[in-house]
Amino acid sequence: MSTPLLIRGASQIVTVGGRTPRRGKALAEIGVLHKGAILLCGGLISAVGPVVKIEKLKESKSAQVLDLDGRVVLPGFVDSHTHLIHAGSRAEEYELKIQGVGYEEIARKGGGILNSVAKLRATASDRLKARAGLFLERFAEYGTTTIEAKSGYGLDLTSELRILSLHKELDAEQPIEIVSTFLGAHAVPAEYRGKSDGSRHYLKLLEQELIPAVAENGLAEYCDVFCERSAFSLAESRQVLAAGKKHGLRPRIHAEQLSNTGATQLATQIGAASCDHLEYLKPADIRALSGSTTVATLLPGCDFHLGLERYAPARSLINSGAIVALATDFNPGTSPTLSMPMVLSLACTQLRMTPAEAIAAATINAAYSLGRHNKVGSLEAGKQADLAVFEVADYREIPYYFGVNTCWLTMKRGEVIHMRD
Ligand code: NIG
Ligand code: FE
Repeated sequence: MSTPLLIRGASQIVTVGGRTPRRGKALAEIGVLHKGAILLCGGLISAVGPVVKIEKLKESKSAQVLDLDGRVVLPGFVDSHTHLIHAGSRAEEYELKIQGVGYEEIARKGGGILNSVAKLRATASDRLKARAGLFLERFAEYGTTTIEAKSGYGLDLTSELRILSLHKELDAEQPIEIVSTFLGAHAVPAEYRGKSDGSRHYLKLLEQELIPAVAENGLAEYCDVFCERSAFSLAESRQVLAAGKKHGLRPRIHAEQLSNTGATQLATQIGAASCDHLEYLKPADIRALSGSTTVATLLPGCDFHLGLERYAPARSLINSGAIVALATDFNPGTSPTLSMPMVLSLACTQLRMTPAEAIAAATINAAYSLGRHNKVGSLEAGKQADLAVFEVADYREIPYYFGVNTCWLTMKRGEVIHMRD
């Protein structure tokens, strides 16, 4: 067993411990310890509490000491919505959008997701892997220790399996845990468009070949669908998610991003783990989420990047008791950021979440949406030693210094995976 590590000297240890998932007022109760310490043993947290108490523990006597010199410790961020594997940026579309061409208009002309699909299909797996590897290092630099990653830029059997196999390889070979989601229903691929019954044939391919192959090879835990007027209809989304469920893949859903489609009601009816985006929620959708275990995952990076004025109604969701999480939605089309601190800044200023609420949404609630809340998402005895240390004296300074990365050190299972020189 490795030498225990005693972490002390933090100005604040933000534990986010306690009941999970966090709803309503409890979202802001993040548990701040001022004269605290954390004891790590064998990759796990063995104790958290007042330094005077922790120092007296037997393992503390032989422990190495890490003095944080007034910095702030948080649980490592859980980024529960990313499109990790893609072949290149879409900076050319970014410029078009700035000039006033809409996201859906670009997609109709064969750009958007299909642009990324063409790029990915033409890129060898080792290049995709190297690119994703660099991104994973960067996630660690911003304090993220667990991510969800979706396929969806392949859209044929070979390319989708290539992406999901890379999730698996990367998960085994580098420290950040990757939770894999199959998003074959991201768009109807070009070869099926313009043909009579093209989308019906693609749905058949998804149901009869792709979903069974993904499930048989154990390549994903979740199945997602982009339910949107420019992508898959409500009925098509229901069909895909039901097929996934039949093969043991739990549903997640891209819902009400650009219009209201009824996807949120579908998500709560089928027991989806999360429904994500939610800019166009209706009051009835908020009511459905308030009594549900489906997590409302908000992705303000998309609205910021696309220059849209309409953000998700975070305050109504929180006040009504829905489980709210935050994620980057790291992807080349709508949110090319992997910085959770930036997402916290956007959550505070655009969604009117308090810094405390934003932190709980980016840790314990996000972990819950990935079924990992017993292992990660808070600093509690028995959980993995996944944590992030920030060069600030107060946790509120993390979103306050927007666009500035204050992350000083990141640990995954007790190993240092990022340290600022
Ligand atoms: O989450 N909305 C669908 N999927 C992504 C965007 C994908 C893309 O434009 O490449 C999203 O915003
Ligand atoms: Fe997405």
